[in-house]
Amino acid sequence: MKSKMRITMFAALLLNAVFIAGCDRAGQDEPSAGTVTAPAAMAEPSALPEVVMYKSPTCQCCGGWAEHLRKAGFTVIEHPREDMAAIKAEYGVPEKLASCHTAVVDGYIIEGHVPADDVKRLLKEHPQVTGLTAPGMPMQSPGMQEEGKAPRHYQVLSFDKTGHTTVFRRYE
Ligand code: CU
Ligand code: CU
Repeated sequence: MKSKMRITMFAALLLNAVFIAGCDRAGQDEPSAGTVTAPAAMAEPSALPEVVMYKSPTCQCCGGWAEHLRKAGFTVIEHPREDMAAIKAEYGVPEKLASCHTAVVDGYIIEGHVPADDVKRLLKEHPQVTGLTAPGMPMQSPGMQEEGKAPRHYQVLSFDKTGHTTVFRRYE
């Protein structure tokens, strides 16, 4: 009886070792022909970089924008801060381009109510800019209006450190 148990335990340990070795290999090897790769749907969540967001502790629309990004697949870390002006200065957001919250994603600055699709396009195209901004508080923007409604009547601008802007997307 005792030896039977020992054999079972040994078999379990052996199985475990084989499994761990298998995991290791899967992590290190380049995928080759015939290798089964993970489906794209499984790989997608980690493909989007984390969004670190600074906002005034009392801002409601900032939280709405964070939720909008989460719905689009981003992980958003919210930092409530009293010194938002200092944050904007630190990240190079010119005063005339400022909005309520300031976020950092993959080295880019996202200022205000920029739709998630525009953030994704920025990450894909990777232009040489500081980031994107939706200056002020556009009423028909994600976070300002009901979630899921189309953005309307404002522009998303790309900007650089000198304050030079280009229209990134125009919402009619
Ligand atoms: Cu806002
Ligand atoms: Cu905000």
